[in-house]
Amino acid sequence: MTNIILLGPPGAGKGTQAKRLVDGRGMVQLSTGDMLREAKTSGTEMGNRVAEVMAKGQLVTDEIVIGLIEEKITGHAGGGFIFDGFPRTLAQADALGALLSRTGQTLDAVIEMQVDDTALVARITGRFTCGSCGAVYHDQTKPTAKAGTCDVCGGTSMVRRADDNEDALKQRLMEYYKKTSPLIGYYYAKGKLASVDGLAEMDAVAAAIAKVLDKR
Ligand code: AP5
Repeated sequence: MTNIILLGPPGAGKGTQAKRLVDGRGMVQLSTGDMLREAKTSGTEMGNRVAEVMAKGQLVTDEIVIGLIEEKITGHAGGGFIFDGFPRTLAQADALGALLSRTGQTLDAVIEMQVDDTALVARITGRFTCGSCGAVYHDQTKPTAKAGTCDVCGGTSMVRRADDNEDALKQRLMEYYKKTSPLIGYYYAKGKLASVDGLAEMDAVAAAIAKVLDKR
């Protein structure tokens, strides 16, 4: 089983490619963003705190996200994980390494999705998802075949994220460059890093990722 990290700034296409790997290779997507959005709706004090932090584009504490990932890894034998949006800090990267080794697993590749910041505003502000199955769309680059209806499940409730606006994106990018981009060097030094062009067409990005995985 292959365990990988998809690493890249907001809008790089991590979620889009993770869903393709789930469908194509039966891998398990672990998106801390999705887990936190779920926690947000719990109505608990923790959920409310998380909602506030995410809406501002800041990072949730390491303790919370490491706890979420630990629960998923230990509750699932076999692996084949795609870590999407995790780790995002050096402390999270160290914690992931320790968790994997404790559960007898390895990290096989870290795929950095390289994109140009100017493309990200258009990607983020045009994104919407199906409220029923989570399929990801875009107003220009990936509209639904029939307006307002999900191509995958036929659902008709489409949602846009509270942090998908230019102001929150600026903060999310700042957090990425300050806290997450050092992971590129961290995983390069560990011999795990592979980089793909995240600005290419979605199929071309998927093919580049497949090439990396097939070499492992
Ligand atoms: P999270 O949900 O992880 O968001 P993100 O990292 O900002 O990434 P996105 O989901 O915005 O983008 P993506 O790379 O998945 O792009 P997508 O495929 O959708 O995190 C949200 C928040 O949660 C954080 O700000 C933080 O507060 C908190 N959080 C999460 N994890 C945390 C952690 N570990 N620690 C602390 N806090 C954490 O694509 C974007 C759009 O572009 C789509 O519309 C898509 O259709 C389109 N698109 C994709 N690929 C292409 C392509 N090749 N060509 C053209 N269009 C494309």
